[in-house]
Amino acid sequence: MAALEEAVLYALKAKPGEFVSGEELSRLSGVSRTAIWKEIEKLRAEGYKISARPRQGYKLTAVPDRLTAQELRWNLKTRVVGCRVHAYESTDSTMDLSHRLAASGEPEGSVVITESQNKGRGRMGRVWASPRGTGLYFSVLFRPALPVSRVPHLTLVAAVAVAEAVADSTGLRPDLKWPNDLLIDGKKICGILTELNAEVNRVNYVVVGVGMNVNTAKSDLPAHATSLKAQAGEKIDRIALARALFQRIDARYHQFLGGGWEPILEAWRSHARFLGSRVRVALEGRVIDGHALDIDSDGALLVRADTGIVESVSAGEVLLVR
Ligand code: BTN
Repeated sequence: MAALEEAVLYALKAKPGEFVSGEELSRLSGVSRTAIWKEIEKLRAEGYKISARPRQGYKLTAVPDRLTAQELRWNLKTRVVGCRVHAYESTDSTMDLSHRLAASGEPEGSVVITESQNKGRGRMGRVWASPRGTGLYFSVLFRPALPVSRVPHLTLVAAVAVAEAVADSTGLRPDLKWPNDLLIDGKKICGILTELNAEVNRVNYVVVGVGMNVNTAKSDLPAHATSLKAQAGEKIDRIALARALFQRIDARYHQFLGGGWEPILEAWRSHARFLGSRVRVALEGRVIDGHALDIDSDGALLVRADTGIVESVSAGEVLLVR
């Protein structure tokens, strides 16, 4: 969107439910009223509903359900997340785009977001179904000054933030499954993928990818998954939700960098209602059957195996047995 169109849009958004006169818009943007009218027409063509009244001006009455940089960044109160938003109709994977941007000096907090992915990927080489226009698929670039060993903590930081944003925005209570799946009624609504670019002892950057089934029809999802709409019984405002996610991720990230790992672990536990349940944990080459006890101070999952031994799992896949 060009700067003038954005300026007109933001002037309308600044006065929700009110008419803004052509004269005021023209003064704010430094162009003629005819030029303003042309921008209004462009906004309408993009799906904005704008009513016009003689002598009163223009009023924004509806925003299209499209993830644009303008909507996502408008009045966004974050320190870094969303400082730049690269929004696409379609991509292979937002992870790849974030890696490419990172390699050419993109700042921390930059977001790549898309309406659909052709090659959305999940953990362990899985495919992430990314049907168009109904979900949230985005990656955030971080450049934390952390030892490589602490990068896995970022996944839990993101998981807590995402669970909180979903709860705040929808009233639903997502359950966190270690390390970073969000489930509702035992079905997956969101996955988080953390990818690291590092030298032996130094983190170059980290990309955290979030894939969420928001208004997705169940028929477009694998059987073990569900969507927020299916659970809440109503359509969810994706723009508001994405903005809430950016804000929560930003806040929890800075809390983490500032030494606040303990309260983040506590928050993670409070969302992890599977703790105490019977689980099967698939590790590379073996399986543990037992009960999930807790996570330790390093974010590893503690499982009391049926053999009686308590095992600490730092990489693996939890299958809930209950
Ligand atoms: C998982 O649960 O396995 C993680 C899924 C992560 C999916 C997101 S969608 C946005 C970003 N781009 C990708 O290709 N993957 C992540």
